[in-house]
Amino acid sequence: MSHISNQTFPKNFLWGGALAANQVEGAYREDGKGLSVADVLPDGIWGPIVYPPQGEYLKHNAVDFYHRYKGDIALLAEMGFKCLRTSIAWTRIFPKGDEEQPNEAGLQYYDNLFNELAKYGIEPLITLSHYEMPMHLVEQYGGWTNRKVISFFENFARTVFTRYKDKVKYWLTFNEINMILHAPFIAGGIRPDQINVTDQILYQAIHHQFVASASAVKMCHEIIPGSQVGCMIAGLPLYPLSPNPNDVLEVMKLERKNLFFSDVQVRGYYPSYIKRFFEENDIVIKMEDEDKEILKNTVDFISFSYYMSGCATANEELNIQSKANILSTVKNPTLPSSEWGWQIDPKGLRYTLNIFYDRYQKPLFITENGLGANDIVNEKGEIIDEYRISYLNDHLNEVREAIKDGVEVMGYTSWGCIDLVSQSSGELGKRYGFIYVDRHDNLTGSFERIKKKSFNWYKEVISSRGQNIK
Ligand code: BG6
Repeated sequence: MSHISNQTFPKNFLWGGALAANQVEGAYREDGKGLSVADVLPDGIWGPIVYPPQGEYLKHNAVDFYHRYKGDIALLAEMGFKCLRTSIAWTRIFPKGDEEQPNEAGLQYYDNLFNELAKYGIEPLITLSHYEMPMHLVEQYGGWTNRKVISFFENFARTVFTRYKDKVKYWLTFNEINMILHAPFIAGGIRPDQINVTDQILYQAIHHQFVASASAVKMCHEIIPGSQVGCMIAGLPLYPLSPNPNDVLEVMKLERKNLFFSDVQVRGYYPSYIKRFFEENDIVIKMEDEDKEILKNTVDFISFSYYMSGCATANEELNIQSKANILSTVKNPTLPSSEWGWQIDPKGLRYTLNIFYDRYQKPLFITENGLGANDIVNEKGEIIDEYRISYLNDHLNEVREAIKDGVEVMGYTSWGCIDLVSQSSGELGKRYGFIYVDRHDNLTGSFERIKKKSFNWYKEVISSRGQNIK
């Protein structure tokens, strides 16, 4: 296996960056687009749901990628991107979600986008569902709690696979599918302000997503020969807070809450440990006869986001919570934190890659990683983001270590390669990009793009295949 002896990243490594339609495009009502869960959260996922929206929210115009994608893609190409991960906004294609016929203007937009990427030889990696469910499906059907939504999603997936079969080879089904446990509205279209979201409700919705995802994998393979479809998991490794065996078992229990999602999507069946959890919590999953067969359509690769690790303890008195994007974990006293309180742990990325590879022996793709920071434009108009370079350097160094460990890594797409609207807090002041966007939380700004210091650094990472990573 040649990749083991490589001292650096493989030649075909998919270097790039990641975006999501709802966090960059804006144009939230243009060309027939319908409202999605992303359009009704003025303050991010922890704030209220305001539907229909009242006034302008940051995401409504985001960073105007919808109109500026040509210039942005030229900048990504200048950095040498091999791959761009973004999502197709479901509501551009099916504004309400349950129509039979798609919205041609929406389809045309993504045709144009993929043509632009092709001009520079940038491979698209497309997420079907990145926290972007149509609001109509939420209001009329109860989101993913309703089995009918599977067929609406299948119609969406079939439509885009058929339309883009010559343009897109790499696909992801549900972004951070395990986050439905912590953010049922954005991840599952389930309104916690209207219903009591019990585990029974959540795990039934999860089952519907598993069936929809496996069905999409099957369709994609049939419609696009040679295509590759991945699952997408929020990676958050946990360490025991102490060597106490109770803490170790607590880690195992919590890790399995996440691994459950990759186990089903990678192995094609429910793991034995979840049965005990279901029994002890009176959860009964309603399955149709064909579900077990559909679930056997497993993914080709595993993708995950990685921003931080956390600790776990069985001792409730020591349960000091540390912030994370969607969920909280017990704070690790040995690690520093970002300005937003996310604990920085590059070695946790090597660890996660090895854990997934040992468990599944399938190729892995790091589809999100990055540092959200409050970038300052200095008097010369520059953004000297040394902290970001250092964060990415240290994480990429651990990716290289994992490759040396023998892990098959397909690629790395740094999150928010262009500044975008944060998911959890709904801000623009929390920036991830190599490219700064002049747009601010108070809805002012020219949308002008400025290359940050990290722009040239990442360009060199890509051109040298990581030789400048220390
Ligand atoms: C992941 C999501 O949870 O983390 C992204 O897939 C999100 O949509 C990213 O933006 C970073 O989180 P945040 O809250 O800083 O935007």
